[in-house]
Amino acid sequence: MIKNSDDIKGMRVAGKLAAQTLEMIGEHVKPGISTGELDKICHDYIVDEIGCIPAPLNYKGFPKSICTSINQVVCHGIPTENRILKSNDIINIDVTVIKDGYHGDTSKMFMVGKAQPHAQRLVDITQECLYRGIEQVKPGARLGDIGHAIQVHAEGNHYSVVREYCGHGIGKVFHEDPQVLHYGQPNTGMSLQEGMCFTIEPMINLGTYKTKLSKTDGWTVETTDGRLSAQWEHTILVTQDGFEVLTQRSEESF
Ligand code: MF3
Ligand code: CO
Ligand code: CO
Repeated sequence: MIKNSDDIKGMRVAGKLAAQTLEMIGEHVKPGISTGELDKICHDYIVDEIGCIPAPLNYKGFPKSICTSINQVVCHGIPTENRILKSNDIINIDVTVIKDGYHGDTSKMFMVGKAQPHAQRLVDITQECLYRGIEQVKPGARLGDIGHAIQVHAEGNHYSVVREYCGHGIGKVFHEDPQVLHYGQPNTGMSLQEGMCFTIEPMINLGTYKTKLSKTDGWTVETTDGRLSAQWEHTILVTQDGFEVLTQRSEESF
């Protein structure tokens, strides 16, 4: 689970390129565009502009290059020409690129057209949940500290934390140990060590935390009550004195 200095160099490059892809797609996310078009723009950018492989494409049979999860969709939404963005939608775009064998995995929320206050608030608090989780990361801290920080902030705002999907170790493998739960108790779970890399990617729901997997496509995960869900994701490196956000965008500072 501990990356060597060559691994860390590779993960920094992959993380930066994944972040760049999210920065690139922002201007395209507006009413009238389909998620299929967003997928094509990202795919072409990832392959042709930055010389990477889109990790989701054909991963365990996933058919597209990014995930697009709208409104009540929790994660793993499949882009399609048939779903056209409309004002008031909220959408998570999840990008994972492979560069020189290393994975960079990151996602963010976009508000489409005019944002509704209850949706904006869910999206903002979910981003704060990610940031509070990240702030826990340092050698000697434990995975439960991350989950607890996220859970307290989500539930303190009367939201719920999705249980069935979690963050993950990442490197030459897309999803590796450890599992990073977004709920838990302080001072429990695996201790963090310098050189570990993992994602934190809380999925926070307006209503129940319960989810259902689409029987039709086998991928799309939705809230059982049909209410909104939001998610933000970064790939994190544990450093000597804390953390480095490998997928940091230029609008962010840590
Ligand atoms: N990027 C997702 C994650 O954060 C995984 C997507 S897997 C796919 O772990 F097959 F749905 F693309
Ligand atoms: Co991930
Ligand atoms: Co992801």
